[in-house]
Amino acid sequence: MSADSGPLPSSHIARRTVAVAITGASGALYAVRTMAALLEHGCHLELVVSDYGRRLLREELGEEAAIEKLDSYLRAKFGDGVSRGSTELHSNKDLGATIASGSHVCESMVIVPCSMKTLAGVAHGLSRNLVERAADVMLKERRTLIIVPRETPMSLPQLRNMTLCAEAGAMIMPAMPAFYQLPRTLDDLADFMAGKILSALGFSQDLYPAWKG
Ligand SMILES: Cc1cc2nc3c(=O)[nH]c(=O)nc-3n(C[C@H](O)[C@H](O)[C@H](O)COP(=O)(O)O)c2cc1C
Repeated sequence: MSADSGPLPSSHIARRTVAVAITGASGALYAVRTMAALLEHGCHLELVVSDYGRRLLREELGEEAAIEKLDSYLRAKFGDGVSRGSTELHSNKDLGATIASGSHVCESMVIVPCSMKTLAGVAHGLSRNLVERAADVMLKERRTLIIVPRETPMSLPQLRNMTLCAEAGAMIMPAMPAFYQLPRTLDDLADFMAGKILSALGFSQDLYPAWKG
């Protein structure tokens, strides 16, 4: 860059790219809060939603959150700040999508919420669909993979699958919001989980107050 050149235009500033997968476990609110918070940070999101993830969005958040309307849903619920980022939706069947390859620059991935089925697929490296393949890429490339499983109670195979993923380098962050921040609404609980996810991805966050002791 020459000495007299000005600041780079915003289109040239590297954006952080994060893969977000939504699968068919209860907790669609966690997914949309996480997406909104990352978009507010100006991230580029590579989004994959399984068939049951699509169903969960509609069943738990209403028809307005159907995948085709998700952009407007996020703006209506979380405000125009989400427009700072961008989202590219991939088909879960497309194993040739960018995030299926380690050569693609995507620094991290979160599966939120993560079903026990997808957890099993990741634990055993099955790569049956794009969610599982992209997660496999994160593990093999030693990049950040956050898995937010939800089920209760859990069987021994499910517990073992979490251990396998943790041993392979993933962070297991169960959908277990805390209550010490005195939540009043469901959104407060979602803020807590999204804040935890953002911190683990290395972003600043003020979605819930830090414990002051
Ligand atoms: C309304 C609803 C809620 C569900 N909640 C959970 C859940 O909390 N955890 C889970 O592991 N599976 C849950 N399931 C079952 C999964 O969606 C199912 O196993 C599915 O095959 C997961 O596929 P996917 O991982 O490709 O999304 C739920 C299904 C429905 C329809």
